[in-house]
This record gives sequence, C-alpha cells and structure tokens, in this order.
Amino acid sequence: MAPGGNNAPWIVLLASSSLLLMLPRAASAVHRSDFPASFLFGTATSSYQIEGAYLEGNKSLSNWDVFTRLPGRIKDGSNGDIADDHYHRYEEDIELMHSLGVNAYRFSISWARILPKGRFGGVNPSGIDFYNKLIDSLLLKGIQPFVTLTHYDIPQELEDRYGAWLSSEIQYDFGHFADVCFGAFGDRVRYWSTFNEPNVAVQRGYMFGTYPPGRCSPPFGSCAHGDSGADPYAATHNMILSHATAVEIYKRKYQSKQKGSIGIVLFSTWYEPLRDVPDDRLATERALAFDAPWFLDPLVYGEYPPEMRQILGERLPSFSPEDRRKLQYKLDFIGVNHYTTLYVRDCMFSRCPLGQQTQHGMAVVTGERNGLPIGTPTAMPTFYVVPDGIEKMVTYIMMRYNNLPMFITENGYAQGGDSDTNVDDWLDDKGRIEYLESYLTKLAKVIRNGADVRGYFAWSVVDNFEWLFGYTLRFGLHYVDYKTQARTPKLSALWYKEFLQNLHEVQ
Ligand SMILES: *[C@@H]1O[C@H](CO)[C@@H](O)[C@H](O)[C@H]1NC(C)=O
Repeated sequence: MAPGGNNAPWIVLLASSSLLLMLPRAASAVHRSDFPASFLFGTATSSYQIEGAYLEGNKSLSNWDVFTRLPGRIKDGSNGDIADDHYHRYEEDIELMHSLGVNAYRFSISWARILPKGRFGGVNPSGIDFYNKLIDSLLLKGIQPFVTLTHYDIPQELEDRYGAWLSSEIQYDFGHFADVCFGAFGDRVRYWSTFNEPNVAVQRGYMFGTYPPGRCSPPFGSCAHGDSGADPYAATHNMILSHATAVEIYKRKYQSKQKGSIGIVLFSTWYEPLRDVPDDRLATERALAFDAPWFLDPLVYGEYPPEMRQILGERLPSFSPEDRRKLQYKLDFIGVNHYTTLYVRDCMFSRCPLGQQTQHGMAVVTGERNGLPIGTPTAMPTFYVVPDGIEKMVTYIMMRYNNLPMFITENGYAQGGDSDTNVDDWLDDKGRIEYLESYLTKLAKVIRNGADVRGYFAWSVVDNFEWLFGYTLRFGLHYVDYKTQARTPKLSALWYKEFLQNLHEVQ
C-alpha cells in the first residue's frame, strides 16, 4: 500500500455523507454565530407563485388566475396554473428546506382555497386540509411556519361582487378569513402577517395599473378604468382597516391562548438623493415616507405620514372614531422586504424628465447617476446590489417606529437568461452568494448596533412564478426544471447551508 493510501476510506466516507464536505471551505465575512441564537433563518414563498393546482380541491379563481389570462400582461404569457406544483410536492420542498437547515419557513395562504366565495360561502375543507398537512410536516422537521394571510391573491368573487379593496366591505371579508385561519391553524402558528407588500399591490393595482385589478389614469398610466389620484388612497385605507380588523380578532380572541404574534410586511426600498442638493434630499424623505410609512404610520401612530398629509391634504381619507378604536390593537412586528436602493430626483421644485417612473411623492426614481448604476445590476431591472441599503433601511424603521421588532421577510437575487442559458449556468449562481453574504454582513452590523431584528428569510427556496416576469427570472436557491418539476440545489443553496451550520471560515 502506498503511503497515504489509508486515506482512501475517508474519501469514501466524505463522498457518501455529503457533497458539501467535498467543496473547498469558503471564507466568509459573516457567520451564523454573528446573529442571536434565537434568530429565525428561513426561506420565503407565496401561494400563487408556487402552489399551482389552481382549480384543485374546490379552490376558486383568484384575481391573479384571472389577470394572468389577459393578453400581454405577463412577459412570457405564462401563469401560476402549475407553477412549482408545490400543492403536490410540498413534502419534497420541506425536505429541501430541512436539508438547508432553516428553522423557519414563510409562506402565504391562498384565500380562494380556504374561502372560495369569501364570506358568501362556506369554508372549504380541502383547503384547510392542505395547510394543516403543510404546517404539521414543517413542525415535524423543526421548521416554524411564518404565515402571511394574503400575498396579492384574493378570491375573484370579491372583486366581482363589490370591487374588493375599493370597498370598505372588504374588512368584513378579510376579518372572516383571518378568523377562520387563526381558528384552524393558530394552535401551531407563532407568526402571522396580515398582508404582504400592500404598498406594492396598491401602487401597481390602482396607480400604474400593471397588477390586478389593473386600474389607473393619466399621467400614471392609461387604463380602461380607474383614478390614480383617488383609488390608491381608498384602497390603502381599506387595507389598513382590514389589517386592523384581523389584528383585533387575533388579540381579543386568540393571542392569549395561542401565544403568537401578528404583524404586516412592507416592500422597503432604500432611497438616496440623485444630486447632492436640498431639493433631492427632501424628495428622498418624501419617497421614503410615501412607501412603507404610508401603511406603518397609521398602524403605529394612527395617522398617515405628515409628509403625505402635507402634499395630499383632503385627498387622504380620514379615520373615523370606530376606525381609531380598531387601530388601538397594535402590531407586534414589522416585516421588511428589502432588495435594493434607488436614487430619487425632485419633481416638486424642478421639472422632471418625462418617461421616468413617477412616484406620487413628486419625485422620480432611477438606478443610475451620470450613466453609472447605483450598484451591480441584477436580472430584475430595478434591483441593484447595494448592501449598505439594508443597514440604512433597518435603521430608518428602527428610528421611526421606536425599534419595534422587525423581521427581514424577503431578500434575494434574480438571475435572468435566454435560450442559450443551460442548467449549469443557472446552478453556478455566485452572484447570489455575493448578494446574500454582503447583505447578511450589513444586517449583522445593524443588529450589533441595536436594531431589534429577529429573523431573515431568503427569497426564495425554489425558482417560481415572478409575477409580470413569469418564469423568465429565477430567484431560487434551488433550480426548478419546469418540464419535469425536478429541483436541484444551486451553489447558493450549499452556501446558505454552510452558513447556517457556521461552517464558513473567518475572512
Ligand atoms: C368539492 O365540493 C363538493 C361539493 O361540496 C364535494 O362533494 C367534494 O367532495 C369536494 N371535493 C374536494 C376534493 O374537496
């Protein structure tokens, strides 16, 4: 036997125990041990983007089932009819999460599966059964369910009957839905969010008209119906009251028994002034306030942001005494979906270039200054890699809301490709590793500096249906072959797994 030949059994052992151990041990600037032991580390998804089975088990059509069928709306003409077929493959997907070593999973409930006709019909036993199986399987693997009640998709019935979010009637439907979910699942769910990114749903659905129900008016867009100057404020008001209805039900009826917490998730882009001038600095303050605080200020302080009231005045609805009574039941946490940072240019004191996306805070946003991007571009047109942004965003929310507990409920990186992109290219996602590592480094720093952040969810565990981009963008830690539904870990899945096991070397 040659010297060293007795190493052979080791090689066999390593190869059979884990592919990971064969990879060179990567150096990293951030480690699991930089975060509190109780920290939640997970992955995130939403019902419409992964479940498929769009008519199975007596589910009714959602607003997204209807909207994706309108010609020209989705880049590749696709929809979520099948998506990742997670409805049938949830056990395999939980196994993927278990192999990553996460201790939490953020998903959303398909309202149209639980209440196909909203409160105008019964609770659907098949829908309850699906989420019971999902939750029980997660808990068996030591994974905490972190549940969003609605992540954009609602029963189309509510749109058809009374215009959904444009009617104050929807608070009774949302309250009923929340009550059914707390009653059915709350004995095992410790974390509830009412809404995912209502600020995006409102801006795209009622201001720019690019998401359902596709309403808008000039200068924001040209739609068959809608009033961009009024509908977004009415829809937001009804979402806030729907949220408050659900929180009141949870706090009065369930929380003392079930011992969970309830919050809301906002899309939270960080903004920087385009030019180093007072006008752009003020515009940046407005852009920030017109975004997540549009929802959060009423929920925490009972009023729309002063920055919005100053500009919009009477166009903002007011809270009645009954609304205020509901709003006294407060949030337990704020969910922060953070991906990127953009520049802001003032349009209040100076004329803005036409053709750029106008924010309603009298500003335009852009990813470039003098032709240079604010960070490395990604396949998602408005998402650049700007790690400092997560530190600044968390600090802003910490200061504005007295350090209410926060969770980073989404953070992730989009890959794009063309017909020449092969599987190996998709699997070799070093850009995503750099993104996750750099953002987690800044997140660890802001926590060390006192921010009460309690968890982090990578978007997403698998590639999935990316709304207007269909299947052309891939956010997954696992690659999905949509022909066979086979899932394959990308390099970033291995990176996240090693990170969670605290295996990376110190840089
Ligand atoms: C669907 O609903 C019908 C009528 O209530 C019921 O008979 C049937 O068993 C349901 N099917 C499933 C899969 O839940």
